[in-house]
Amino acid sequence: MIRHVLLGCLMIHCTIADPKGGEGTVPLPPLPKRTWLTLHGDEPFVVANGGFSGLYPQQSDIAFSQSIIYGKGGTVLLCDLHMSRNRQGFCLSQLNLQNTTNAADAFPNRRKTYIVNGKELQGWFALDFTSDEMLGKLIVTQSIFSRTDLFDFSSPYPTDLFLEDNKNALVWINAEYATFYNQHKLSLVDHIKKLLEIKKDISYISSPEIGFLKSMGPIVHGLKTKLMFKFPTDINAVEPTTNEPYASILKKLSMIKTFAAGIVVPREYIWPVNKARYLEPSTNLVADAHKQGVEVFAYGFANDNFLPHNYSYDPQREYLQFIDNSHFAVDGVVTDFPTSASTAIACLAGSKNASRKVPSKEMNLCAMKKLTLIISANGANGDYPGSTDLAYQKAVDDGADIIDCSVQMTKDRVAFCLPSVDLIPTTTASGSFMSRAAKVASIQSSMGIFSFDFTWDEILSLKPQMFSEFNGDLARDPARKNVGKFVTLSDFLEFAKAKAVPGVLINIEVIFFSTLHYICIFLDFRAITNCNLVVFKNAAYLAANKGLDIVGAVTTALSNATLDKQSTKKVLIMSAESSVLDKFKDIPTYQKVLHIKKQVEFVTNQTALEIKKHADAVFLHKHSLYTQFRGEGFTLNFTNLIERMHWANVSVYAGTVLNEFQDIYMDYSSDPYTLIHNLIYYGADGIITQYPSTVNAYTRNLCTGNLESYRIPDINPGDVITSALDPKEVAEYKPPPPVHLETKDFVTPPLPPVAAITKDNDDKGSASNNTNTNASPSSSPPPAQAQAPSSATAATINVVAFFIATMLGLVTLL
Ligand SMILES: *[C@@H]1O[C@H](CO)[C@@H](O)[C@H](O)[C@H]1NC(C)=O
Ligand SMILES: *[C@@H]1O[C@H](CO)[C@@H](O)[C@H](O)[C@H]1NC(C)=O
Ligand SMILES: *[C@@H]1O[C@H](CO)[C@@H](O)[C@H](O)[C@H]1NC(C)=O
Ligand SMILES: *[C@@H]1O[C@H](CO)[C@@H](O)[C@H](O)[C@H]1NC(C)=O
Ligand SMILES: *[C@@H]1O[C@H](CO)[C@@H](O)[C@H](O)[C@H]1NC(C)=O
Ligand SMILES: *[C@@H]1O[C@H](CO)[C@@H](O)[C@H](O)[C@H]1NC(C)=O
Ligand SMILES: *[C@@H]1O[C@H](CO)[C@@H](O)[C@H](O)[C@H]1NC(C)=O
Ligand SMILES: *[C@@H]1O[C@H](CO)[C@@H](O)[C@H](O)[C@H]1NC(C)=O
Repeated sequence: MIRHVLLGCLMIHCTIADPKGGEGTVPLPPLPKRTWLTLHGDEPFVVANGGFSGLYPQQSDIAFSQSIIYGKGGTVLLCDLHMSRNRQGFCLSQLNLQNTTNAADAFPNRRKTYIVNGKELQGWFALDFTSDEMLGKLIVTQSIFSRTDLFDFSSPYPTDLFLEDNKNALVWINAEYATFYNQHKLSLVDHIKKLLEIKKDISYISSPEIGFLKSMGPIVHGLKTKLMFKFPTDINAVEPTTNEPYASILKKLSMIKTFAAGIVVPREYIWPVNKARYLEPSTNLVADAHKQGVEVFAYGFANDNFLPHNYSYDPQREYLQFIDNSHFAVDGVVTDFPTSASTAIACLAGSKNASRKVPSKEMNLCAMKKLTLIISANGANGDYPGSTDLAYQKAVDDGADIIDCSVQMTKDRVAFCLPSVDLIPTTTASGSFMSRAAKVASIQSSMGIFSFDFTWDEILSLKPQMFSEFNGDLARDPARKNVGKFVTLSDFLEFAKAKAVPGVLINIEVIFFSTLHYICIFLDFRAITNCNLVVFKNAAYLAANKGLDIVGAVTTALSNATLDKQSTKKVLIMSAESSVLDKFKDIPTYQKVLHIKKQVEFVTNQTALEIKKHADAVFLHKHSLYTQFRGEGFTLNFTNLIERMHWANVSVYAGTVLNEFQDIYMDYSSDPYTLIHNLIYYGADGIITQYPSTVNAYTRNLCTGNLESYRIPDINPGDVITSALDPKEVAEYKPPPPVHLETKDFVTPPLPPVAAITKDNDDKGSASNNTNTNASPSSSPPPAQAQAPSSATAATINVVAFFIATMLGLVTLL
């Protein structure tokens, strides 16, 4: 299989011209050593907080070993030291165990209340357990609800074993509760003395307690160990040895310098975030500390945080904000996702102006000849309401190769760009025009307010609205929710011609979101609710029922813009219907893209060849490239889609790639860069995305082609679960039979002739007052003729039934 992908790569990658004329230069020379704005000018450290705790239970052996495998060289392993009753140290992330182990279930009667730094704390505590009990009965568990519990099987990790196992790695011991343990006759200082006998070169020892650090001073004297003063999230908390609030201690950096080499602070101490989740200007902390010779590490990094809106949910942008701004760089980042921090530091920092290149499985072949196309989805829809002037401008600024317009028609025959024919998700129509909601069964299963029932002037009276499958804490920038202007198709084409963008994609279908054939509203934690079926006979429906010729409108606009008789700008025509694509057969310079809306896992040679009859490329849902393990958000295997498409000489565009962590496989670290890397590495010829800036930044990353440097991991589907779980358990999992892509999924009957409709197109404002007989009235309850299964809709109904089945599948798959 892998060899076939390679062959595909040879055939396709090497023969298609690259849009920006990039040439292969393989392999690249090693990166020059760069200087950083860290205290000593060295590369910032990646500190794995309890190991790779974004994926595995914090502080477990597997979390630590995987961060060595997936992190860059020199990744520091941070263990939080806690003590059992019999003076055995354990790596555990919290003082009380109920959130991070099964203690409450295993020892229901062991619940205690202690005074910790002056406050009552209830729960289960390590100091009430013997090490035998910990090792024999306790299991470390993933404590964050949105993360997987698939790997909850390790016992708490004894600190001495942790050091033995990681003799060759850099390690960090954080002693958070020295005073509390002293009160219970357990000395963290004494324990660390013993640990230093096991591993003399513990790199860092940290604590939020000055007294502890001062006692450690003489012990680490002459060693390379650095003592680090850790500040709590609550800057107004009181330091236990001095009874002074941390806020005032932070001002005394020269005093801190007397007992610590550096400080470890929450990210917000450096880049504060306000209540509305926007980033405020940075504090001077790093510069001030560096002036005093004090190192600064920042903690709290995780890909599955609800990031400030300034980062557009791109987890890498947050790291770069701390290490790659022009004023300062922190000396290290403490993260739950060491892979992502490694990518930021090794590959992305300083790469803004680097040339674009993409990896391939075989460096020396066509490897970096052809660049993967960056195709926008509704413009930069992650940052602005889809298909608005602002979304398109941003997509161009962000380096999209192809900007897209999903064409919709108004009643008065204006073709314009909007992500969906239904105005409800993408405009403010539901406020003022709810009375014009209608049900059109051949378009979508629920009520909608449809653009074809509105005049262009009426559309202009609305505001665009940013739509996202995610809401709650993952909602997109609320300040931009209703900004921007609607754009007609001809304005879109003029805009594209005026800009240096290499091409346009004209999409002729009902809706263009990341989801397949329905709009789903995602709740937090990868759960989907409220899916809304969308059927895709827009062109046919408009022609037969509304007298609107969408294909004609596109043809005219393209030719009016003289894009039909040139080859400098790429023109991609996309549709989910073969009959629409066939209408453009006569213009060979147009690339025809078939949108496979169904999530599929298997395609036969014959079907692949059938696609080739209608299209030069397919847009595949990213989930069609992988099978998944149970419903757990992990990949299991490749599907044969890329391989068969390439065999049939059909290019593959994969998408829609979003930044939001809930949309990304867990084995890809919930990191869009890892997903993009793997899609491209394993053969995607283009990436369709609502965040072109992320894909663009990926293609400029400095690690591609540098065989010596860290690389974004090429994670084979299934590798992560197979290496972490009992391989037998993985092998025993029998995935549901693969969903086949079938000819009937995309071959549609020829478009019906455009019905002659009496021209009531200019009666602005009363569009719902529909006088013509051919068109189905839209403001009234479901008209009989829109519901009746005509020969065209009969096929649709089968499709709907099928969609319900796949939709149910997807609910468990995501
Ligand atoms: C730990 O669990 C308790 C309930 O058992 C909960 O109230 C608390 O918020 C949790 N703490 C953390 C840090 O998750
Ligand atoms: C973050 O975004 C807000 C709103 O757009 C802006 O006012 C602020 O300056 C940004 N913060 C930074 C540090 O760029
Ligand atoms: C990238 O190029 C711009 C414009 O030429 C320049 O201002 C900027 O400093 C460069 N950035 C880096 C990181 O080289
Ligand atoms: C044709 O193109 C011109 C600009 O070149 C534009 O002003 C006009 O609206 C276009 N007409 C149509 C029908 O698209
Ligand atoms: C599909 O095509 C490949 C490559 O030509 C061939 O090896 C394979 O046997 C074909 N499969 C079927 C079912 O015909
Ligand atoms: C992965 O899929 C390929 C076909 O695409 C199949 O040959 C192979 O056995 C599958 N591997 C596993 C582990 O299921
Ligand atoms: C794909 O294109 C190559 C080169 O044009 C050709 O040799 C090959 O037969 C084509 N493959 C198929 C399945 O048509
Ligand atoms: C249609 O519009 C006309 C004038 O705008 C109005 O008088 C008439 O009542 C409307 N008919 C319906 C059925 O709404």
